[in-house]
Amino acid sequence: MARFHQLRVAAVEQLTDDSVALTFAVPPDLREDYRYTPGQHLALRRVVDGVEIRRTYSICSAAPAPRATGEPSTLRVGVRVVDGGAFSTYAHKEIAVGDELEVMTPAGRFTLDPAPGRYAAVVGGSGITPVLSIVTTLLEREPHATFCLIRSDRTAASTMFLEEVADLKDRWPDRFQLVMVLSREEQQAGLTSGRLDEERLASLLPALLTVPEVDGWFLCGPYGLVQGAERTLRSLGVDRRRIHEEIFHVDDAPTTTATVPVPEHSTVTVTLDGRSGTWPVQAGETLLDTVLRNRADAPFACKGGVCGTCRAFKVSGDVRMDRNFALEPEETEAGYVLACQSHPTTDKVELDFDR
Ligand code: FES
Repeated sequence: MARFHQLRVAAVEQLTDDSVALTFAVPPDLREDYRYTPGQHLALRRVVDGVEIRRTYSICSAAPAPRATGEPSTLRVGVRVVDGGAFSTYAHKEIAVGDELEVMTPAGRFTLDPAPGRYAAVVGGSGITPVLSIVTTLLEREPHATFCLIRSDRTAASTMFLEEVADLKDRWPDRFQLVMVLSREEQQAGLTSGRLDEERLASLLPALLTVPEVDGWFLCGPYGLVQGAERTLRSLGVDRRRIHEEIFHVDDAPTTTATVPVPEHSTVTVTLDGRSGTWPVQAGETLLDTVLRNRADAPFACKGGVCGTCRAFKVSGDVRMDRNFALEPEETEAGYVLACQSHPTTDKVELDFDR
């Protein structure tokens, strides 16, 4: 079960004009709870004027090796300021070393356990954050793995973790390949300028890699970039099961327009942390809203269909999801839903958050 704990801020580093890295100290008695797989994220919680704000930020540090207990003594996340973003502005301007923040235990399935093979990523902007953890852990732990990173940003000055990614190239010149595409900078030696759109990717990828030989693709960043990269990979014959996606900004993403009639009176039965309850669903609300009115410990972070924290197994009944950018097709086929996006389409729905 995902849980919040108070963690102390051990370091705040300015990465670019509009991004910071926050490092949290994890006390020994909580280290097992904060064990993570590279690519996972943390939800941070803050209450302002009685209103709770939760945001998820990806862990950027390499995961500790299992032989070193696998339990982290620190956790580092990257935070880019979003225009008008209540949490990111606070993180950027106010958080200081020694502050205590409420931090949820790690969650998310945009992950890679180190294994031999060829891997590649296409990332935009702050989408580098989980991929930095994935690639660093992979190269450190697995000598028979290679990684090709294609990243895009506006300018070199706005690029998060510029030096840390350059260090990877110095440490593993034979196993790590980097291509940077900068949209607002004139071409310089070693850099590509312009937009990382489908046309560019369709010519770039086959020139860089033997595309069919790549074991896993990691796409992370704004909706348009991730969708464009996925279409390009599919057009190059890549199996959907080899493509992993995480979307960071979904404002421009479509929601489901299907209008499946919602029953006038429906109930949801929920199992959460070993306890069950049945409650009526009010008109228009999501199943997560129903659960939260009755169980404050229901897991969630983004409420936007992106982070996957609210994933639950649908035991019976049926639901319509407004949107889903978190669950893989295999998960929805297996019966998982995002409670924050689900509306009942049958009189009774039963969800299990513990599976
Ligand atoms: S809370 Fe993030 S997907 Fe539901």
